[in-house]
Amino acid sequence: MLAVALRAIFLWLSNRRWMAHVALGTPFLRRMPLRFVAGTTLDQAVAAVRELNARGRSATLDVLGESTDDRDSADRAATAYVATIERIATEGLDANVSIKLSQMGLGLGVEECLAVMAPIVAAATRHGIFVRIDMESSPTTDRTLEVVSRLRANGHDVGPVIQSYLHRSPADVERLATEHVRTRICKGAYAEPPELAHQEREAVGDAFVALCQRLLEADAYPGIATHDPEMIQRVGAVARRHGIGKDRLEFQMLYGVRRDLQRRLVARGYRVRVYVPFGTEWYPYFMRRLAERPANAIFVLRSLVGEHS
Ligand code: FDA
Repeated sequence: MLAVALRAIFLWLSNRRWMAHVALGTPFLRRMPLRFVAGTTLDQAVAAVRELNARGRSATLDVLGESTDDRDSADRAATAYVATIERIATEGLDANVSIKLSQMGLGLGVEECLAVMAPIVAAATRHGIFVRIDMESSPTTDRTLEVVSRLRANGHDVGPVIQSYLHRSPADVERLATEHVRTRICKGAYAEPPELAHQEREAVGDAFVALCQRLLEADAYPGIATHDPEMIQRVGAVARRHGIGKDRLEFQMLYGVRRDLQRRLVARGYRVRVYVPFGTEWYPYFMRRLAERPANAIFVLRSLVGEHS
């Protein structure tokens, strides 16, 4: 009960820009996200990826940013991604990028968003780097999938994320499986109403496994994005039952979360990719992580107070 209330509070806070200003402007609070964010600069993110690669893990880099309906801001965000892709290539990192389209002007419409994305996918295609498009809240699902499909039609190696809590997801995955699109499956991180999304943990989990199974059968190299040991065990069992090798899927986890599990999976021969966010705009991302696990708030506060005293 308390956890549900805290989740709602953190999700509400994640959309409050005034709170973001307070957090970003207060030196004490600015240290909060250190556990979940690789740093504020590209250099810090590159160092984090190097360390992950040395431990046998791949990475996907997320340049944190605000959702924007302003074309200049969206173009600036795109420029930061181009710089990130160039660094991945010049440093020979085992990494790709994950992008939120709200940051790329999706609110301005699909055509405008495609124009903002053009330099990113051009750089990625030039260097043979895959581009993952994150999935945001349900009002953006159709437009996000349309952008992915239009970029793919132009020959770019781009893949979406599908959230297992949404009732629509089996139909979306069916289409993606038929076209062998490299898709990440996650449970879903936004507050969605019962008409659109399963509310019970068990239903979200069963849907998660079923969606992963469909993509495994289609040999679409799914990204299994979860820290939930039960999901990992069930999807692993499906793969074994179907004789699907460990090289035909990857497990994906967030930076700073369940590093023990990441390590164990690598030791068992699985591919693991870590989602590495960086940048100054860490506030909404950080709040969504607290919503997923309110106990993190206590963990973060304790380490802040410990460092402060
Ligand atoms: P679940 O919440 O069921 O918890 C299981 C266990 O995992 C917990 O008991 C705890 O041990 C651990 N855990 C989970 N979250 C934790 C946290 N924040 N801190 C510490 N421990 C934690 N969502 C979305 O809507 N769109 C997207 O594009 C993405 N992209 C994405 C990429 C990657 C790589 C990951 C791992 C996740 C996402 N998500 C996402 C988020 C996803 O939808 C979901 O909210 C979280 O992964 C939490 O669900 P789990 O299945 O991981 O664990």
